Order: sequence, then C-alpha cells, then structure tokens
Amino acid sequence: MSHPPLAESALSQKLPHLAGLVARYTSPDFLVAPGGHVQTIAAGYYTVSGLSRHVRLGEFVAHKSATGVHLGEVVRVEPELTYVCPIEPGEPIGIHDTVIRKGAFRISPDDSWCGRTISSLCEPIDGLGPIVDGLSRRSISNTAPPSMTRKRVETGFKTGVRAIDLFSPLCLGQRLGIFAGSGVGKSTLLSMLARAHAFDKVVIALVGERGREVREFIEDTLGEDMKKSIAVVATSDESPMLRKMAPLTAVTIAEHFRDQGDNVLLIIDSVTRFAHAIREVATASGEPPIARGYPASVFTELPRLLERAGPGPEGTGTITAIISILVDGDNHNDPIADSTRGILDGHLVLQRSLAEEGRYPPIDPLASISRLARKAWTPDQEKLVSRLKALIHRFEETRDLRLIGGYRQGADPDLDMAVKQVPIIYDVLKQSPGEPGSPDSFTDLATALKAAAGIGNQPVRR
Ligand SMILES: Nc1ncnc2c1ncn2[C@@H]1O[C@H](COP(=O)(O)OP(=O)(O)O)[C@@H](O)[C@H]1O
Ligand SMILES: [Mg+2]
Repeated sequence: MSHPPLAESALSQKLPHLAGLVARYTSPDFLVAPGGHVQTIAAGYYTVSGLSRHVRLGEFVAHKSATGVHLGEVVRVEPELTYVCPIEPGEPIGIHDTVIRKGAFRISPDDSWCGRTISSLCEPIDGLGPIVDGLSRRSISNTAPPSMTRKRVETGFKTGVRAIDLFSPLCLGQRLGIFAGSGVGKSTLLSMLARAHAFDKVVIALVGERGREVREFIEDTLGEDMKKSIAVVATSDESPMLRKMAPLTAVTIAEHFRDQGDNVLLIIDSVTRFAHAIREVATASGEPPIARGYPASVFTELPRLLERAGPGPEGTGTITAIISILVDGDNHNDPIADSTRGILDGHLVLQRSLAEEGRYPPIDPLASISRLARKAWTPDQEKLVSRLKALIHRFEETRDLRLIGGYRQGADPDLDMAVKQVPIIYDVLKQSPGEPGSPDSFTDLATALKAAAGIGNQPVRR
C-alpha cells in the first residue's frame, strides 16, 4: 500500500497552516536566494552590499537578526548599495547581518479567510487562531488586467443608502471616492456601504486608523456581515511599510475572489493615510518631494492601486472600490484629493455644515457625482433626479434671502415648490448607521412626498 507524501497527508490535515509555510519556504526562490550584508543603518532604512545586481525596486528581502527573520522592502538600488525599509518597527539590525532576496511579496488568499481580521502580512490579529493559505500565490504588487480585456461596467446596484441610491447611484465595478475632512462621517458611511446586499465578499483595508475605531468598525458596524468580510488592518502606530502594504494586500485578496467570479466590495479607509505612508517611506530613503512633501512615487502608486479595482476579464467577477479621502482642513484641492479624483468614476462630497445640522450622512447631493449614474437610473428616474437637483439648487441659493424675510409665497411657483418639497427630501436622505438599508429609495421618497401632500398646505419647516 502506498502512502501519500507527508506534506499532503498528515501535515496538511493536522496542521494545514504549517503545510503552507513549508511549501513557501522550500520553494526554489527561497532556497537559492542571493544574499548580502548590512553596511549602514539609519532611522527608517538600512543599506546592504552585494544585492544590487539581484534585486528590483519594490522586492522583499529577509534580514536575519538575533530575534529571527524580518522582512524589508527594497526602496532604492545603487550600483554598490541597496536601500531597504524594514517592515516591522524596532527590529534589531546589526552591521554585517545577512540579508537575502525574497522577491515579490506573495500571499495565498483562501475562502476560509472570510470573517477574519489580518495584518498587512496576512497574519491573523483577531485571536481566532491561525489562518490557512490557499492554493494560488499572488504578488501584492500585481498590475491591473489590460483594459481592453475587461468587462464593461454597466450593472447598477443598490447600496441601501438613500442619499447615494437617489442622487449618485453606483454600478458593480465602479471606483468611488468619499471626500471629507476629519470627523465628518467617512468611516460611518463606509460601514453602511459595507452592508450592501449586492456583494458576495467584502474586503476592507483600514489604514492608519486608531485601534479603538478598528474594533468599532468590525464589531459594531459589520456584525453579521463580517461572515463574508475580511479586514486588513494597519493602525496608526504601525510602521509606514505595513500601512503602505494594507491596501495592496486587500486588493490582492479582492482579486482572488474576483477571479472566482464573485462581486467583491473593496473598502479602503483611508487612501490619504496610504499616501502618507508612502511619503514617510520615500522621505526615509531620500526620494525628493514634489508636491506638499509628497514624492513622485505617490502619484504613480495611487493609480496603480485603484486601477486594480474595477471589472475583471470575461468570466470573472468585479471589484467595486469605495475609498475615503481625507481632505486636510476641508481643502478639497489638496494633491492627493486632486490626483485621486481624476482616477475615480465618481466622488461623494461630505460637508461639515450638513453634519453640524445633524443631516447624516452629510452627503452634498449637488457636489457629488457618480459618472456611471446613467447606467443605474431608469430614464424616468434620471429625469426626476435632475428635477430634484434643480429644486435643491433653488432652495439653497435663496436660503439667505429667505432668512432675511425676502420670500413671499405665490411670487415664484418654482421657489414655492422648492420651499415645500426640499425639506421633505432632506428628511428622506437622513439615515443612521443602525437603520437597515433601504431596498427602494425612490419609493421611500415618493411615499414621503405623497404623505406631505396629503397633509395639505400646512406650513412647512425651515
Ligand atoms: N450616519 C450617521 N448618523 C449619526 N451620526 C453620524 C453618522 N455618521 C457620522 N456620525 C457622527 O460623526 C462622528 C464621526 O464620524 P466618522 O465616520 O468617524 O468620521 P470620519 O471617518 O470622517 O473621521 C461619529 O462618531 C458620529 O457621531
Ligand atoms: Mg474615519
């Protein structure tokens, strides 16, 4: 009687995670890796001799120290010296320590990762035991599929958030940015969107958040939906390398599910913190800043990351990306906001003034656009929304006039209509994170408007 090899039988059944590790570290590129030695050490990076001919920018190296093997990323290559940023902060590095090439950082996502919270290096951080590697190995710095091979984006879906489904409806495979200052409601809105029913899987990258917020996001807001979700977390106290890797790891996991035919929602909160992490790494390795301290690499990394979301090639699923962008001091023209706006298929603008009025989620319906809205609306809905926007515009532009008592009912029928209906529309748009998503926002709006009309010509608030 013949026995299967050890790695396939006993190891993979009893200790599946160990079998994955053995496979990874006995692979040819680990065993015959070229090596070098540490030459100089500085805050944020170290240099290695003997590796320059063997490594490429962005590849990983393993550094052997007294406390074990630690990973680093190649951030600059000179003829004699390779500059490496350590992934983990505080690792002990000594002159002449051995450093070997690991190549691209690869991960092996698996369906069993659903429901788990992991680090940028795909280590479990939720205390629920080890995670099992899947069969495929994917480089986290993959490129997007060629654009001509990708499916078209044309299937609308409902997010359940009325302010979005009415005014900026989305399609599967769309890339949407949420722009706002800090504390205005980005993370809360993202958590509401994470519960949309349209998705088979949800992959969430939480970058540079406070540890407390991460637990709140995962435990309070996702709740039951965590079963189909995977969270990749790099909190604000972690190294810039780990913060830079979190969205890359997340998009790679999303690609795994997309290739299986799933419609995946990828959430990145926030892309600005990702950009800050790249800036920190670049500053440490001596890359010159070009715009507000940001190095040129930020502006190539952002499109590379976001382009990986979107529809997959025929026969695969889609990755819908919803990302948050922090606009410093509510300045919507900061370089990261500017460069991401051009890459995205739509943006939601959250206004602090609406949040202060208690109008949550504070989405400004006139400043927000979804470039694929026309594919999600029916022709009638499109006509209705453009009429609603005109009413809201009229209401807002006469706000000051009405406050000083310059409004007289009967003088302008359009304005009369706006004064009557816009407060009702605003009420319909209000939604708290605890509320279940709305299955049909247009019906909700019609019901509210009809109910108000039924009450008759009673005086309207505001
Ligand atoms: N839909 C909402 N309903 C009620 N309160 C909200 C809502 N969205 C945000 N808030 C309030 O705003 C605060 C900040 O929101 P948060 O999403 O953390 O902002 P950001 O991520 O932009 O910093 C929350 O603690 C909450 O009090
Ligand atoms: Mg937040």
